Amino acid sequence: MSDLEKFYLKPDKNTLKEIIVENEWDIVVARQEGRELARQIGFNEVDQARITTALSELARNIVSYAGSGQIKMWKGESQGRFSICIIAEDNGPGIQDIKLALQDGYSTSKGLGAGLPGVKRLVDTFFIKSKAGQGCFVAIEKILRRNL
Ligand SMILES: Nc1ncnc2c1ncn2[C@@H]1O[C@H](COP(=O)(O)OP(=O)(O)OP(=O)(O)O)[C@@H](O)[C@H]1O
Ligand SMILES: [Mg+2]
Repeated sequence: MSDLEKFYLKPDKNTLKEIIVENEWDIVVARQEGRELARQIGFNEVDQARITTALSELARNIVSYAGSGQIKMWKGESQGRFSICIIAEDNGPGIQDIKLALQDGYSTSKGLGAGLPGVKRLVDTFFIKSKAGQGCFVAIEKILRRNL
């Protein structure tokens, strides 16, 4: 299975968490739920922090640029290892130039422009699909490494 394919499969219902994201409080909820799921999967506190940071950035982008959207996350499996899979999607204005949006320091909102490139560095799989006028779909996966 390719990295991309799994995000189009049905998420594992037993661990699936779905959060509607419209405001600051929803960002907090996404972080809390993500931390709890990450902990249950077995991620250590450092990785839990990485995962909540990624969730914050994706949720904040939804609130800032699309107004509303959704975050889904579930326990995945990759090459015999457990993982956390996260999708952030919205039907907002979308991103015209994804390559530009992924550059450090690029922002259309006087932000630091560190959000998306930061998320990309924190995870093992980063997939983004967006077109101007057609919303934004971001899928990420972080794989649980065995503690040495
Ligand atoms: N969900 C989205 N819908 C539409 N445009 C988006 C979305 N997410 C990101 N963008 C666009 O991509 C740009 C880069 O996003 P990124 O999160 O990297 O930086 P930022 O949000 O501008 O600043 P920061 O996250 O550092 O506060 C944004 O300025 C915005 O133009
Ligand atoms: Mg951002």
